Amino acid sequence: MDTPITVLVTGGAGFIGSNWLNLMVPRFPACTFVNVDALTYAGNLASLEPIQNCLNYRFEHCDIRDREAVKRVWETFRPDTVVHFAAESHVDRSISGPTDFIETNVVGTLNLLEAFRAGFGGATSVRFHHISTDEVYGTLGAEGQFTEETRYDPSSPYSASKAASDHLVRAYHRTYGLPITITNCSNNYGPRQFPEKLMPLMILNAIEGKRLPVYGSGMNVRDWLYVDDHCEAIWEVLVNGVPGETYNIGGNSERTNLEVVHAICRVVANELGRSYESLVGQIEYVKDRPGHDFRYAIDASKIKAELGWKPTESFETGLQRTVSWYLANTNWIEQVRSGEYRRWIEQNYTQR
Ligand code: NAD
Ligand code: DAU
Repeated sequence: MDTPITVLVTGGAGFIGSNWLNLMVPRFPACTFVNVDALTYAGNLASLEPIQNCLNYRFEHCDIRDREAVKRVWETFRPDTVVHFAAESHVDRSISGPTDFIETNVVGTLNLLEAFRAGFGGATSVRFHHISTDEVYGTLGAEGQFTEETRYDPSSPYSASKAASDHLVRAYHRTYGLPITITNCSNNYGPRQFPEKLMPLMILNAIEGKRLPVYGSGMNVRDWLYVDDHCEAIWEVLVNGVPGETYNIGGNSERTNLEVVHAICRVVANELGRSYESLVGQIEYVKDRPGHDFRYAIDASKIKAELGWKPTESFETGLQRTVSWYLANTNWIEQVRSGEYRRWIEQNYTQR
């Protein structure tokens, strides 16, 4: 991309957003990337250390629930393109408290769409790209895969809020002609994922000799996508995707949760010279998640055929890279866990 466009990225301090920015900011020096993030518990500027001094990168502390603040960001930066990652993203948290999910995922998305609509027309290269999830399709049985035509059937407050945001984004295309694209992808894993999600939680608990809490039977199936593969797919859709279209993205790596935990134990045992059997002995079966979707699987043939994207990382190589990253980045782990970093952020951003 040689055109000097301004890309407004929401949620760029989170897991996928930070990995995306760390890849794209150095790769496209002619583009300016503005990271708009509220720095919730899931957002950490430490995840952006590799690019924090890049001249084509800016950070803007902003809560997308605040319509006036979003408008101000638009007026300041006049973005050409939006890549919308910001969301409350953890299913378990949505079960214990759905309100933030509706406010950020639905109302926040609406605020961005309104700002985009108001600014639309003057820009050089415009796109509103919305990052969504396969969870909007609900659950699968033992067979089948989600396609872009699968009926929406969300199970959790999180997935219902993402479904609502997808509908809004699509409605803004149909009603106002806005050039939107949507991607719905499967479970991401890789560096910089907050340790509440299955992979990082199990990796850190395995390393630290803590219990490995498997929900229900452990037979629920997820499709695992290495985060860099997801990031490359998003760029591809942004540049070559057809406005108004939706693309499913998957890693072609279905595993039961128990298989994932066993694989983590194998890699951690290997890395630390510990006994695999004793790590597996840390597994504890705990109460199941209410409304727990049984299986997700993605048919990614549309993005493969139309845009030539396919995942490059296998589950085994991606997992090895992920465990190695967590072992090598203990500072990051301490910062996101201790709250110390969050206090610093509060002083530096909230009180300014
Ligand atoms: P994350 O929870 O790690 O990060 C979310 C980011 O959004 C954080 O930086 C947070 O500070 C920011 N944020 C939250 N509320 C905000 C608000 N009101 N205003 C501004 N910023 C706010 O999430 P993630 O795992 O990186 O997911 C990113 C996107 O991808 C989400 O939209 C999620 O639904 C979607 N997604 C995630 C996965 C996955 O496996 N992680 C899979 C499919 C889709
Ligand atoms: O499918 C895409 C979705 O993947 C994203 O939209 C979500 O943002 C992301 O959080 C993820 O949702 P899941 O609910 O699938 O991810 P999570 O890591 O919470 O759980 C993965 C599976 O592991 C799920 O079947 C529940 C189970 N689990 C999870 C945790 C945290 C456990 O068995 N034990 C645990 O401690």
